[in-house]
This record gives sequence, C-alpha cells and structure tokens, in this order.
Amino acid sequence: MQEITLRRPDDWHLHLRDGAMLKGVLPETSRHFARAIIMPNLVPPVVTGEQAAAYRDRILAALPEGAAFEPLMTLYLTEGTDPADVAAAAASGLVKAVKLYPAGATTNSQSGVRDLTGVMPVLEKMAEIGLPLCTHGEVTAAEVDIFDREAVFIDTVLDPLRRRLPELRVVMEHITTREGADYAAAGGPNLGATITTHHLIINRNHILVGGIKPHYYCLPVAKREKHRLALRRAAVSGKGCYFLGTDSAPHVDALKEHACGCAGCFTATNTMALLAHVFEQEGALDRLEAFASLNGPAFYRLPVNETRLRLVKRDQPHAFPDKIFTEAGPVTVFNPGFPVHWHVES
Ligand code: NCD
Ligand code: ZN
Repeated sequence: MQEITLRRPDDWHLHLRDGAMLKGVLPETSRHFARAIIMPNLVPPVVTGEQAAAYRDRILAALPEGAAFEPLMTLYLTEGTDPADVAAAAASGLVKAVKLYPAGATTNSQSGVRDLTGVMPVLEKMAEIGLPLCTHGEVTAAEVDIFDREAVFIDTVLDPLRRRLPELRVVMEHITTREGADYAAAGGPNLGATITTHHLIINRNHILVGGIKPHYYCLPVAKREKHRLALRRAAVSGKGCYFLGTDSAPHVDALKEHACGCAGCFTATNTMALLAHVFEQEGALDRLEAFASLNGPAFYRLPVNETRLRLVKRDQPHAFPDKIFTEAGPVTVFNPGFPVHWHVES
C-alpha cells in the first residue's frame, strides 16, 4: 500500500447547476474539496451580486449534513453588467471572480459577450480592484476550426486584452493546448490557468475512434496527443500559474447520449484518485499538492486549507460508480478507461 496526504484541495472551476441536479452532485465535490469556484452559467445566468448571493444560499442549503464546503461565487459577464454592482459584490467578499463566456462558445453562453469593447468599463474596474476574470478561451467565429479556437482566442482576444489592461488578473480556464500552457507560463503574476482532470487523460482520439463517446465530449474539446502531453507537463511542473479546475460539468445521460449531445465531463466523483494516478505516472506525486491545494489559493489570494486529504493506493483497483443517480436523472461518472488503484480514504 502507498499513501499520500495533502492539504485539502480546492476546485477552481466547477459546475454545480441548480435544484435536483445541485442536490445530487454537490456531495461528490464536498466530500473531497474544501472550496470551489462556482460557474455562473445557470439558466438564467448569475449576473448580479444579488443573484450570486441567492445561488450561494441554495448551494449551502443543498449541502449534506455536516459538510464543510465553501462555494466561491462568480458573476457571469454580460454586455449589461454594471461595474458598480461587480465592485460591491467583490468588496462584500461574496464574489471571487467574473466569468467571460464568448457568446455561443459553450453550454448556456448565449447571454455572453459578443464584443469586449462593451464590457471595458467592467474590466477596468476589475483591474483596479484586483478581481480576477475567468475566461472561457475560445473564439466562436464559424470559420475557425473547433480545434483551433483556443489558440486563436489567445492571439486575437486574450493577448490584446492583456496588453491593453496589464493590471487585469486573468485565469485561462480549462486550457487544452500547448499554446495555452506556454502562454500561461509566460504571463507573469497576473495570469493563471486551470487544467481539468479529463484533459490530462484523454485526447481527441478517445472521443472519436472506435465509435463516438459522448461522455468524453466537453468544451473546449480535447485536442491532439501532443497537447495532452503538454498539459501533463504543465500540471506536474509545480509552477504556480497552473492549478486544478475540474470543469466537472454534469448533464443527465439522456442529454449526453443524444443526437445533439451536451458538452461536459463529470469528474467530481473520482478526480482526486485520477490525479494521483496521473501524477504518479509522471513521477510527480510530490507536486500534486501544489497543483490541487496550493497554487490556486495563492493566485486567488486566499489562505490554504488547514484540513488534510489522504489518498491511498492498493493492489486491487478501486471500483468507482459508473453513474450517480440524481433526482434530475442519472449522470455518468468520467471513466478513464484504465484501472485506478488510488482512492481517497475517508
Ligand atoms: C460546461 C457546462 O456544461 O456548463 N461544459 C463543458 O463542456 N465544459 C461549460 C464550459 O465550461 O464550457
Ligand atoms: Zn466549465
């Protein structure tokens, strides 16, 4: 048996949804994670401080008895967002970031931003007060190939924005390319990047070879193998700019296994075990704590967690559930396609 004890991790990019789905998926995260940056792409989206406070209350009410979990709220940036409302929500401590969805880029992004010019007053206010902007870094122009959308976003949107507003603190969410990893590493202290669990494990072949695998479809879509390898090098590097954001994004099976299937991998249940597996493969178990528990709080200027999480590796593979059963319907747990011997010891 092998084991490793970490400071309790945080998830810097998480979808919890609302209602029955929230109730069903929240325990999967609160079991292992102390805090999470909660994505605001509900229908309707979480745009104002008042909406974020109400959503936070619903999350706290849905927590299992005795769970110690702190939701870190975000606001969904729209072309109508009021800079004063953002500043007030940040000053009260309620809101930890604002999320930029380019309109049409992903699930529930139709209220997102078409043109950054219209939101410059909000971004200037955020730069002034040090409130991070979390970016879904993909362009949406129809002529840009879906596998190129991240690299084109960096060149045509993110880099110009950061040159114009160097004080703005930015998180490149769920990077999926070598270009993304390189850009984050070169960006200085105002730039961070989250990496998901699944993008360390699958490349685009996993989605498409031998039959289409809807449960591996997420956005940004997994890229070529060389990009997966670059993400692994980044995650295990220990560099402070890289931290865990699972992007665990539950959709009921009926909507994943569908003619027009929803994007999202649900990894909340087994993320920590999968990361232990990946970091061990890379000979970097000693850097898992930096990635999952230290670099994120440092970027967000929050204290690290004082409690601990213990991961154990046994000879026998650990059996994770195939699905969790929520009152909204079954949700398939991400299947890495190999046996996993690690698990979190409760
Ligand atoms: C997310 C979702 O379902 O809300 N889906 C996904 O594939 N990651 C949205 C997102 O983060 O892009
Ligand atoms: Zn997401």
